[in-house]
Amino acid sequence: MPEPDAYQTPEPGGGPVHILAVLDSAGDAVKAALAGQPGYRLEMHDANSSACFPWPAGRQPDLILVEPPSADQDRLATWLREVADKAPDLPVLAIGGQLPVAAVRVLLSLRSGNAVPLPFTPSGLKAQIAAVMHAPGETETDGARCWSFMSAVGGAGATTLAIETAYQLHTASAIGGRVALVDLNFLDGACAACLDVPANLRLDEAADNPERIDAALIDAFASPHPCGFDVLVAARFLFGFERINAGAVGRLLDVCCTIYDHVVIDLPRWLQDWSLDVLAGSDAAILVSELTVPALHAARDLAQSLEEEGAEDGLHMQIVLNRMAKRVFGHSITVAEAQKALGRKAVGSIGSDWDIAVQAVNYGVPAGHINPKSKISKDVQMLIKTLHQHMLKSGPGTSQRLAS
Ligand SMILES: Nc1ncnc2c1ncn2[C@@H]1O[C@H](COP(=O)(O)OP(=O)(O)O)[C@@H](O)[C@H]1O
Ligand SMILES: [Mg+2]
Repeated sequence: MPEPDAYQTPEPGGGPVHILAVLDSAGDAVKAALAGQPGYRLEMHDANSSACFPWPAGRQPDLILVEPPSADQDRLATWLREVADKAPDLPVLAIGGQLPVAAVRVLLSLRSGNAVPLPFTPSGLKAQIAAVMHAPGETETDGARCWSFMSAVGGAGATTLAIETAYQLHTASAIGGRVALVDLNFLDGACAACLDVPANLRLDEAADNPERIDAALIDAFASPHPCGFDVLVAARFLFGFERINAGAVGRLLDVCCTIYDHVVIDLPRWLQDWSLDVLAGSDAAILVSELTVPALHAARDLAQSLEEEGAEDGLHMQIVLNRMAKRVFGHSITVAEAQKALGRKAVGSIGSDWDIAVQAVNYGVPAGHINPKSKISKDVQMLIKTLHQHMLKSGPGTSQRLAS
């Protein structure tokens, strides 16, 4: 057996997750995905040379990544049985397009096991590691943060910014962080199309019986995006809102808050009887405006009306100015002018970047995945930072109010 390739040395103080990786063709992709990440220590073995499972001497690893040799797929079931015997609590990720049925059966018998199809993105792999290490019952139940986005006028950018926020929160989160993007536009939701994921959210089926919604059902509703976060989105339906009720929406978000660390919500502009509850229960209630006089006036009026309606719950809308253009010919509105029209300060502004925005939707990925240095990405990172500061000042998450 060859010497293990100690890819990254442990940090003093013993922080990083020790991953025992027994891999064939996915070896390079795994190395690349975890390169330069101080949170992981990767111990690599070549699957082809590992007739027996290469257990390290001494301390057990924190996670096993395993891929059978392409010429001997059946070896995977043998290895997994050994893991099930020796360390049934150890999280295991099996990598492969079509894993043998016998291996999948053993994988499912483990306390925390999952399969990672090929190819995977670096953030997708990290999300899978996070999910499998977050064994059921160990998730935080009170720490989830909810970020709600609503547009002041159609096309202002709520969906774009909600998607980018989910992506940035996922990218920035440490091991164990899980992020969900929930599209509550049951009439004309765009998240499925923008992210090229299946619309698996069947909330209408649970509307008469919201208590049916539990972690297992959320798992079935959620579509994992290759970038690593989950998307909960329903198929577009002309009468979508008629089939949904406040109880179902509240329960959906409440259960999401027990599973995920961040729940990013794309809200419809047309007020539903649950919209105020969602906004008031969110840690950040964001109203997106564009930089035109009519949009700013719409944002001013909508923020004021929502705050009046939600006064009992202390609802405060945070206005974000989207598609800020450089003032070249004197036609565009500056932040100072926009704030004057709004009659209040905006919490952030996002630069205009049509090229990246179009590429992102055409490729089914967030803007930050196309170019992490794009204006949209950098400005959303700044927005998250600012809103997070506000959240820290206002104490623990308010997510528990959602379903009340
Ligand atoms: N900062 C931005 N720069 C350039 N284009 C943007 C920006 N934000 C949004 N867009 C584009 O504007 C259009 C409307 O955005 P969208 O997020 O769908 O709005 P909403 O959800 O508020 O209706 C989309 O084509 C989107 O790609
Ligand atoms: Mg939208």
